[in-house]
Amino acid sequence: VISPTNSSTTQPIELRSDNAAGAAVEILHAVAAANSGSALAYGADDWSAQLQRRVSDVFEHPDAVVIPVVTGTAANALGLSAICPPWGAVLCHETAHILRSECGATSLLCGGAVMRGVTGESYKLSAAGLADAFAATRWGDNHHSQPSVLSFTQPTDFGTIYSVAEIAELASSAHERGLRVHLDGARIANAIVALGCSPAELTWRAGIDVFSLGATKNGAVTTDAIVCFDPAIAAELHYRVKRSGHVPSKMRFQSAQLEAYLADGLWLRLAAQANSAMARLAAGLRHLGVELLAEPDVNMLFGRVSPATLERMESAGLLFYAMGADIFRFVTSFETTLVEVDEVLSRMADAVAG
Ligand SMILES: Cc1ncc(COP(=O)(O)O)c(C=O)c1O
Repeated sequence: VISPTNSSTTQPIELRSDNAAGAAVEILHAVAAANSGSALAYGADDWSAQLQRRVSDVFEHPDAVVIPVVTGTAANALGLSAICPPWGAVLCHETAHILRSECGATSLLCGGAVMRGVTGESYKLSAAGLADAFAATRWGDNHHSQPSVLSFTQPTDFGTIYSVAEIAELASSAHERGLRVHLDGARIANAIVALGCSPAELTWRAGIDVFSLGATKNGAVTTDAIVCFDPAIAAELHYRVKRSGHVPSKMRFQSAQLEAYLADGLWLRLAAQANSAMARLAAGLRHLGVELLAEPDVNMLFGRVSPATLERMESAGLLFYAMGADIFRFVTSFETTLVEVDEVLSRMADAVAG
């Protein structure tokens, strides 16, 4: 159970979530600019057409189709619904957001499909875990849901990342068994920056069929998106998004946000700020002797301190989530400055020293 902590006396510093950050000014300007006159509704506007071109370009794929939706949960559940039948099973890591934190949205939108947690170190799917899941399956037996999709969370919910090679290898094993492959990219920009790869390398070139393109956590106002590379998946989504109420009449404002987000590498610059703030924070915490539960590859970190230290962190005006008495989570965002990071470290030094 995650409980928000609160504070008090000193100027608070935001480390609860990148969802708590505001929006990037470039994106706000794009929304204001899109507010010029009338435009056709439901995605038949110029901003949405431009966004399609931009996504094809950025992801280097002529058949890439982008569908703006309002939340990461909708992007995941709808994207998965296009590739998983009602009798199917979605295999994902046992800590995956789709399994733990989306209230069964995937099962609902897939018409009753189940989700299966697969084991793996560092909060990541492993070849051994996937092999076990396949071995435990009674293939073709209609008493049992059939594995239909492998879903990655990249970065994971614990701030670790898969290498491109790890994704490609697991995706290939899944494809060999006839599964399709999905990626929850709520923070995909942070992963691309951390890996130094291209958007195409991390997605379709590694075997991803459909993925969630997160934007809200990294500077957008009200939009994430689904991206797929197969016209058959796009055709499924065409109807599914409407049936689930995800075709906003004023889609131009979502498309304008995403277009500004992807244009000129803004999404990668925003993510780089969040990642480098976290890298500095993690290095400083290590220096103070704070135990980190995993190496933060992107903008999220989990650490362990004594319960008394945790209380002092709260009293020092650090805003974060505590998971139990001695585990804390820090998340940086595109808004986190290096000056703030240094201030956090100075307060942490006092909290650790008691
Ligand atoms: C990894 C991951 N996937 C998906 C989501 C869902 O996004 P939303 O809260 O917009 O539905 C989140 C939200 O925090 C997330 O962390």
